[in-house]
Amino acid sequence: MLDTQIAATLRSILEEIIDDLELDYDDDLAPQTRLIADLGFASTDFIHLIVEIETKFSRKLGFHDLLMPEGTYIDDLTLGTLEAFVTSRMQQPVESSAPPVKSDSAPSAVVPASTEPPVTEADLATYRSLMPASSEWGIPPAVGKRNPRAAFLLSSSRSGSTLLRVILAGHPQLFAPPELHLLLYPDMQRRRKSLDNPLNAHLLTGAIRAFMQIRDVSSEEAAAFVAQCESDGMPVHEFYGRMLEELGDRLLIDKSPTYAMRPEFLARARDEFEEPLFIHLVRHPCGMIKSFQDGKMDQYVPFMRESHFSRRQLAELTWLATNSNISDFLTTIPANRQLRLNYDTLVAQPGEQVARLCEFLQVPFLESMLQPYDDQHARMTDSVKNAAEFSGDLKFHLHAGIDPAAAAKWRGSLSESSLGAPTRALSRQLDIQLEAD
Ligand code: A3P
Repeated sequence: MLDTQIAATLRSILEEIIDDLELDYDDDLAPQTRLIADLGFASTDFIHLIVEIETKFSRKLGFHDLLMPEGTYIDDLTLGTLEAFVTSRMQQPVESSAPPVKSDSAPSAVVPASTEPPVTEADLATYRSLMPASSEWGIPPAVGKRNPRAAFLLSSSRSGSTLLRVILAGHPQLFAPPELHLLLYPDMQRRRKSLDNPLNAHLLTGAIRAFMQIRDVSSEEAAAFVAQCESDGMPVHEFYGRMLEELGDRLLIDKSPTYAMRPEFLARARDEFEEPLFIHLVRHPCGMIKSFQDGKMDQYVPFMRESHFSRRQLAELTWLATNSNISDFLTTIPANRQLRLNYDTLVAQPGEQVARLCEFLQVPFLESMLQPYDDQHARMTDSVKNAAEFSGDLKFHLHAGIDPAAAAKWRGSLSESSLGAPTRALSRQLDIQLEAD
């Protein structure tokens, strides 16, 4: 493809997005046009743009290198830089068009000393006390009959759970939709009310995407069904029941990191399903903390936004609270119905780890599961309307395969010595290797 054709294609994609998003920009697009400062792009709009570009050019281009060259997001991007990047990647052979993450994110010997005191048990207690009381979520109605078996993928946020869910979604005997965020609410109406705001509305799309797939219907038809369940105030238990009935023999894998925020949500997973299975996905605390900081995850959660803790502390406290909730909860589950998987090991040895997981889920291992960027429709990575509404980690779209380099990126900017004693103790309990140990 000629450079001029690539430039023209990029401009037409950008013009469509400007129309779609109703951005207030009437000037001509020029090489110096900045996507954030001039067009008004939000960070999630970049994901929409790269998914459109990769779909149009039918290949992964490794946008991680353009958008996160130093391991953190760039401040802005000009159209000229975008054109130069795509042109250069399109000139490379397909196999190498998305090279692995560059060595500038590899381990570095010099890590700036932390300026904050390490988190303590007292901080953890304060963090927990800041969370809304159970009654604010609504009390789920008593359940008569348990729903059939489902599997739950439990983790803190930023632990590679989107990647794992997409790997599992590649198996025909499993059904692993984008995040459902169901167990927090008594009924579908309450769920809509809680999530229907600019920061969280994308979390409502997972259930719609699931029904698009189950019924093989359009996004409008699936959205109309879910809207009906919401206006009927259908209990969440019944909503799961409908989904499981229509899934037949396929095993539902429900991955929603919010479930680990409270023991009550986890208890519902145990008590409302027949012999449910649990996967505990863990990640090195420093990897999760850096990921949380880069994604500014606290801005999505009101109690975090209002707290006095720094972003760094909130990240570690979230790792600690969620992993200890899961760990305590799993003491109530028989050993044959739980499996712990480590993200860092998963990306280093995906074949071995996914085979282990398949054995646990009692399905045959398929090599095709290790190609999570193939067949976006079957894996439900294509979203309901636009890619930025994805109910999961948008960074998934920046990678081009299972990326082993992603696990070590924290090493240049964080030190294990900054971790608090409770985090170190729980890491050991979860068999996470800390170098100082
Ligand atoms: P980083 O922010 O450290 O890169 P979750 O889905 O649980 O929120 O996890 C997000 C983390 O998974 C992000 O970590 C993201 O980059 C990583 N991830 C997503 N897709 C990946 C892939 N294909 N290979 C390796 N890591 C991936």
